[in-house]
Amino acid sequence: MDMHKHQKNIINIIDNNSNNSKILQGICDYLKAKIDYYDWVGFYFKNGDKDELKLAEFSGEPTEHQIIPFGKGICGQVAVSNENFVVQDVSALDNYISCGIQVKSEIVIPIFVNGKNIGQIDIDSHVASPFTKEDEVLLEWVCAQVSLLLE
Ligand code: SME
Repeated sequence: MDMHKHQKNIINIIDNNSNNSKILQGICDYLKAKIDYYDWVGFYFKNGDKDELKLAEFSGEPTEHQIIPFGKGICGQVAVSNENFVVQDVSALDNYISCGIQVKSEIVIPIFVNGKNIGQIDIDSHVASPFTKEDEVLLEWVCAQVSLLLE
């Protein structure tokens, strides 16, 4: 993965879009287009004062999972664990919400604003075991940029 190139292009997306929604959409579209094993890229955020996540911008097939209660699925678990969740084989998990039978693996990285877990980036892949430490490094960096926009 060309980390430096991706970071440079994402900074351009942030600098060249006028509002946060366009920036988040641009980041989803960029990551889905440029990393071949990223088949669905989306942001979920805490839904007001409810203990649930709400889907925001995404790139890929529409999903019926617009709302995910805290604790449910990979996303809901990250909302309460505050930790990265890398799943190389989703069929091995019991607490999993499927967004399609083609999805083989998934990575979710939390977004912190002032130390609080306010949402996450979620990526589904149709490839089994595609993720390395580099994905976590890139996506943690993306989440840190998003955090700066939202604080
Ligand atoms: N698979 C997720 C649900 C969200 S979709 O992947 C878009 C989960 O288990 O939380």
